[in-house]
Amino acid sequence: MIHINTQDYLVSIGSFSESNLGSILEAYSAAKKIILVDENTHDCCLEALITTFDDLADAEVMLLPSGEENKVMEVCFQVWEAWSEYKVSRHDLVLNLGGGVVTDMGGFMASIFKRGLNFVNIPTSLLSMVDASVGGKTGIDLGVYKNQLGLFVNPLAVIVDPGFLNTLPVEEKWSGLAEMLKHGLIASKAHWDIVKFIDASEDVFGAEIIAASIEIKRTIVEADFHEKNIRKKLNFGHTIGHALEGYLLFSAKISHGHAVALGMMLEAQLSVEKGLLSSTENEEIQTYLSKNYPKVQFQASELPAIFELMKNDKKNRNQEIQSVLLSKIGEAVIDQVVHFEEIEKVFHTLNFIQED
Ligand SMILES: NC(=O)c1ccc[n+]([C@@H]2O[C@H](COP(=O)([O-])OP(=O)(O)OC[C@H]3O[C@@H](n4cnc5c(N)ncnc54)[C@H](O)[C@@H]3O)[C@@H](O)[C@H]2O)c1
Repeated sequence: MIHINTQDYLVSIGSFSESNLGSILEAYSAAKKIILVDENTHDCCLEALITTFDDLADAEVMLLPSGEENKVMEVCFQVWEAWSEYKVSRHDLVLNLGGGVVTDMGGFMASIFKRGLNFVNIPTSLLSMVDASVGGKTGIDLGVYKNQLGLFVNPLAVIVDPGFLNTLPVEEKWSGLAEMLKHGLIASKAHWDIVKFIDASEDVFGAEIIAASIEIKRTIVEADFHEKNIRKKLNFGHTIGHALEGYLLFSAKISHGHAVALGMMLEAQLSVEKGLLSSTENEEIQTYLSKNYPKVQFQASELPAIFELMKNDKKNRNQEIQSVLLSKIGEAVIDQVVHFEEIEKVFHTLNFIQED
């Protein structure tokens, strides 16, 4: 078992049966326990959890519809109404058992209800293990605009059990790997040099490599919890990535990590155009990412709509798009203003635009 102590809570990485979850549940033995799952984690992960802990025998299991398109207020209203009916109080406990959609939305719902219930994140996707479940960002989408409503609230604990990954579809492993690659690109060349060799379709993700990614995120988050400065680095690939994810959500949906990987390719290229990153390092990034994350092609006429979505990014100031770029592998620079023409250029350079 690996333990990462953040300022406010413990992340345990290893078998959940040996984690501190048992003692947390004991402390809540007289309280109501609500387990939030989506359709897949209901089928693949729930039984192992509830059969391990007697304290969960009477837990209320609530099924959320799976997928990013359901990370919305309408679902929250239904859950809050059910909690009201079930007389959930501020002293009860919410357990978020799922990928980033469940941990983001479950944390948000728990933090709002009666001004805040405690919640434990039990991430079941690679992406949620290495990224979404740690760092205290909770939230939901507003139409095509990602994570527009949310709060910074820490969980009571994060229980990471890599065993849950046995049932995770391979494309979701690639999705999670994208965030691990991002951790390397923005903060640690040594991490990049390890994770770039991972073949998500074959490799097993062990506790050590998952812990290494979480540790990078922890260090950045603890230096700047409310994202006033260096935490913005974690958004590398996300200015364009979130726009692509939102743009494609209701037509040709791609995973969060796939969108971030495409965003990282385009933002690395932007870093070269702005004289920040060397062509050699960019070449390495492009070669690796394009091999594993297929490019999506757009019509040139679609770019203004994608650009509009970027304008809604939470990092923007004074109507300007502010992006995170790279100065080298392992080092990111924040607050870089980017213009439509520059974005248009990199879409063309990297063949994201169908030429007639
Ligand atoms: N809060 C943060 O700091 C943060 C960071 C990164 C991403 N995110 C958010 O995370 C979300 C993406 O997370 P995600 O990729 O985990 O998406 P997800 O929750 O939709 O999970 C991906 C798919 O895998 C399934 N799944 C999850 N665990 C499984 C398991 N063990 N076995 C079988 N199927 C399983 C899910 O049901 C879903 O179909 C996005 O909404 C993104 O905005 C948040």
